Amino acid sequence: MKQYRNTWAEINLEAIGYNIQQLKKLLPDKRKIMGVVKANGYGHGSVQVAQTALNVGVDFLMVALLEEAVKLRENGIKAPILVIGRVPPAYAYVAANLGITLSVFQIDWLKNIDNDKFEKTLDLHVEFETGMNRTGVCTLNELEEIVEMVRHMDNVKLTGAYTHFATADEIGSELFEEQCKRYEKMLESLATLHPGPLMTHIGNSAAGIQYPDKMHQYTRFGVAMYGLYPSIPIRGLNSVDLKQAMSLHSELIQVKKIIAGECVSYGATFCAEKDTWIGTVPIGYGDGWRRSLQDFHVLLNGKKMPIVGRICMDVMMIELDQPYEVGQKVTLIGENNGAIIEMDDLANHLDTINYEIPCMLTSRIPRVYV
Ligand SMILES: Cc1ncc(COP(=O)(O)O)c(C=O)c1O
Repeated sequence: MKQYRNTWAEINLEAIGYNIQQLKKLLPDKRKIMGVVKANGYGHGSVQVAQTALNVGVDFLMVALLEEAVKLRENGIKAPILVIGRVPPAYAYVAANLGITLSVFQIDWLKNIDNDKFEKTLDLHVEFETGMNRTGVCTLNELEEIVEMVRHMDNVKLTGAYTHFATADEIGSELFEEQCKRYEKMLESLATLHPGPLMTHIGNSAAGIQYPDKMHQYTRFGVAMYGLYPSIPIRGLNSVDLKQAMSLHSELIQVKKIIAGECVSYGATFCAEKDTWIGTVPIGYGDGWRRSLQDFHVLLNGKKMPIVGRICMDVMMIELDQPYEVGQKVTLIGENNGAIIEMDDLANHLDTINYEIPCMLTSRIPRVYV
């Protein structure tokens, strides 16, 4: 759909390629990267990010939903894709027929898949529960049942095993070490039950950055690929240089002077103490630009301008240090004339993690690729 509005998120695909190359350098030789493009590529656009990752040598993709994998296939992406979420068993045939790998962690799921509809063999990666307590096979008995059942199904194949860490973003976490041990133990059992090659992968960005030597064949890099550090302590390791790939910009649509005592926006929560220049910026909570950013700032002409008054659904107001022309560029995330607002700054203000910032920006904001 053609976009008419003058608010846009810029996605720097070169930065994504650069980040992948930096992450690859961290890992020992022959260890590979699985590109995590769930949640529309963390809000950056899954298809464009996947294509960029594949162009720089990534050869496996990961998403959370079957819908997300189907979208990649519909856009011509032929690389292997793993879905980590539980796909309802009635739709396993969709994955099989599109060559999409699914996760298995319950024997009942396996019993209920509709494999008579499969036109191709369905690849499965078994997820081990090792300490995250989210999804995963919990007992060796259940693992044995799953392997045994797969052995007797001629259109289903076990091709991989994985787990997910709960605390890899902390420095030197004991739970991380414990999860590694539990994984190795389950993997040993699996090797006796299922001789033959299996692809194994354990790490996310935090584990891959902190413990590159402990990673298995693949590391599932998500947030770091987009140029964000998984936590402040991991950033503090200074072991990899990442470039934030997304920036967010808009333009002033009205500039006016209000006189001392006049107020701005719903509830009149901001009232000027002196005559003040106010600029209106066309972005609001309907775009995912949250109301609680009211006391944050934007960049204009390389300077911080505070957001004043309540943020509306479609627009917000900022206090200007002088009159500017309508059309003047305003930067909400990223670089503007040498000044910068990082996703981490917004996350800090909103008392959340940087992961949430690009994901919260809705599809009303066009993504422009550079
Ligand atoms: C199973 C799994 N692997 C990898 C990732 C990627 O994590 P990160 O973005 O921290 O690299 C996620 C994200 O939540 C995940 O759920």
